[in-house]
Amino acid sequence: MNSDNKGELTLRPSAARLLESMRDIGYSFESALADIIDNSISAGAKTIDVVNDLDEETGPFLAVLDDGRGMSPAELTSAMQHGSRSPLEVRDAGDLGRFGLGLKTASFSQCRRLTVVSRQGGQLTGRCWDLDLVKARDEWILKLLDDDQIAGLPLVGRIGPQGTLVLWQKLDRLDALGEEPDQAYAALNAMFGIARPHLALTFHRFIAPEPGDGTSAVALRINGAMVQALDPFCRLASPRSDAHALETLRMGQGNIEVQAFTLPHHQRLSIDQIKALEMGSSLMETQGLYVYRAKRLIAGGTWLGLARRAELTKLLRVRVDVPTSLDADWSVDVRKSRVRPPAAVRSKLRPLVEKMTESARRPYTYRGTRQAAGPGLPLWSRVEERGRIRYELARSHPLITSLQGPDHAPRDLEPLLLAVEASIPLDSLFSDISSNPRALAQAELEASGLEFLMAAFVEAVAPNSDSISASAAESLLQTHIFAGRPEARQILQRLRRIESA
Ligand SMILES: Nc1ncnc2c1ncn2[C@@H]1O[C@H](COP(=O)(O)OP(=O)(O)OP(=O)(O)O)[C@@H](O)[C@H]1O
Ligand SMILES: [Mg+2]
Repeated sequence: MNSDNKGELTLRPSAARLLESMRDIGYSFESALADIIDNSISAGAKTIDVVNDLDEETGPFLAVLDDGRGMSPAELTSAMQHGSRSPLEVRDAGDLGRFGLGLKTASFSQCRRLTVVSRQGGQLTGRCWDLDLVKARDEWILKLLDDDQIAGLPLVGRIGPQGTLVLWQKLDRLDALGEEPDQAYAALNAMFGIARPHLALTFHRFIAPEPGDGTSAVALRINGAMVQALDPFCRLASPRSDAHALETLRMGQGNIEVQAFTLPHHQRLSIDQIKALEMGSSLMETQGLYVYRAKRLIAGGTWLGLARRAELTKLLRVRVDVPTSLDADWSVDVRKSRVRPPAAVRSKLRPLVEKMTESARRPYTYRGTRQAAGPGLPLWSRVEERGRIRYELARSHPLITSLQGPDHAPRDLEPLLLAVEASIPLDSLFSDISSNPRALAQAELEASGLEFLMAAFVEAVAPNSDSISASAAESLLQTHIFAGRPEARQILQRLRRIESA
């Protein structure tokens, strides 16, 4: 402690205690890795390798190796400093950094020794923070590595003409998961099991840029295996999502671009495609806004309180592109995993989200209406009234009216119809549709059942006759039950002569 001017005191933080506390600011393994990869992408890397080894000889390590622009000795020293740059500093549009902290905070959340080796202009430089040294001396002591020390590090030989190697050693968080090597392997496997899809999603626009995006692809590998992009909008796959119009919100410091996509209906997707899009959860849970900062995903699958998750909007995903120039307004956190849009943005975003969710509902509503009122002689009608929707049996349907002859007073039938309408198993239908949509199907109608029903329909539509009008016949054949059953026409022709139109 220094006593400076009178009435003032320079009070430096305890290096040991501060570093130790900063380890727990809330990084997960995957968000820590993403923070290191951010730096590689900002440095213009085209190949990024995440490698880990539990080798007893070199000691367990995890490394991120890139072929980006690298750092000079002075730049590397500065990069190792906490707060190497100010969040107030204006940066390039493609720079994913903001706080000058990520490299250090993300690394220490996972390990006790961080070594960075970088090559720029042919010069190889190495620097190392060892938490145990800092703790022992309670000083911010950065180790400057000499050539021999650098040469002794794993993977150094793989640094290309330019690039950077970030090395995590003393993986104490991993040790805590199990003493035995097998346990550590299992734990690491489980962590990568989560990290791989996380990185595939977070960096999908770098791994697989859209045509015309102006960027070339980044190859991201984990232990040699390529990470395939996970595009939540199904933009590049087939079938492709429907892109809505691009909307631009003009803010003081830059523009926010908003575009909604309606995913293809699940019946058009393979099981694997659905699984990928569900992202370990469900379409219902992953609908909503996907907020990107300089094309890197910050938060996805949330409506940020602007709409509610609903079954009818589960195919709707909205891409929100925020430039780094709006960082201060958006309060991006150090881990780049949370955003809070400012009130001005929320008020502009709200009507857009309302419009988008409204249009997402339309295909379903239309589908419902068409099924009810549309072709043929539908048995159900969909009634929308004062914001509520119900399904009623069509009282005018020939099958129903035919029962209401002189011997069947309407009121005899009415209790049954009302009971059926009032007891549609909505809860169970809803849960089946959300959890297992492909398994749910209409009751199957065998050939004999089809004949039986056709006879009843024909008798109801054209009673006591040996013929049926062409238009009545067509209308009958288009009815939901008979449409898609080619044999229905022959059955009808056997029952009635179809009058020529
Ligand atoms: N792989 C790399 N290649 C080249 N330079 C790097 C690399 N990693 C880090 N740097 C340099 O080190 C600096 C500090 O990185 P750090 O992640 O700590 O902060 P930041 O990226 O500036 O901001 P943030 O805290 O938001 O991540 C970067 O600004 C960059 O100049
Ligand atoms: Mg960074």
